[in-house]
Amino acid sequence: MERIEVNARGCAHCAEKAGTSRREFITASAASAVAALLVAACGGATGATGVTGPVSLSVKISNYPALANVGGIARVDTGGSPVAVVRTGASTFAALSLICPHFGCTVGINGRAFLCPCHGAQFASTGTWIGGQPTTNLAAFTTSYDATTGVLTIT
Ligand code: FES
Repeated sequence: MERIEVNARGCAHCAEKAGTSRREFITASAASAVAALLVAACGGATGATGVTGPVSLSVKISNYPALANVGGIARVDTGGSPVAVVRTGASTFAALSLICPHFGCTVGINGRAFLCPCHGAQFASTGTWIGGQPTTNLAAFTTSYDATTGVLTIT
């Protein structure tokens, strides 16, 4: 069987970018189930749709120093689907999925914006795509902030 190189995360798409075509990859694997497993290892992506699973998080804002000021961004997930919170005002917040809508890599926080390490998609703090690899915007979740308790609920 032909040896197929994939990236450290087993991403078949990234293997394609490295010179192995998807067709070669799937043929060599001799089982579509194997290919599906590798694609899933890329970050749970479902291709370019940017579909993310539902989240249900309660975040104590004071636990994240980066959220002390308007414009601050912090990653707040605790092992589940990667989620970032952006402080948009004194008592308003946005919550964004960090699953890249291009092909499912985990997007990183880059100052007051976001950058995907896989193919370079860039997103504003609003989640709007602003450059690099063309794709759609980051998915946004619904937020509800209780100023009395300082807890942000993300659903
Ligand atoms: S996965 Fe390709 S730019 Fe993010």
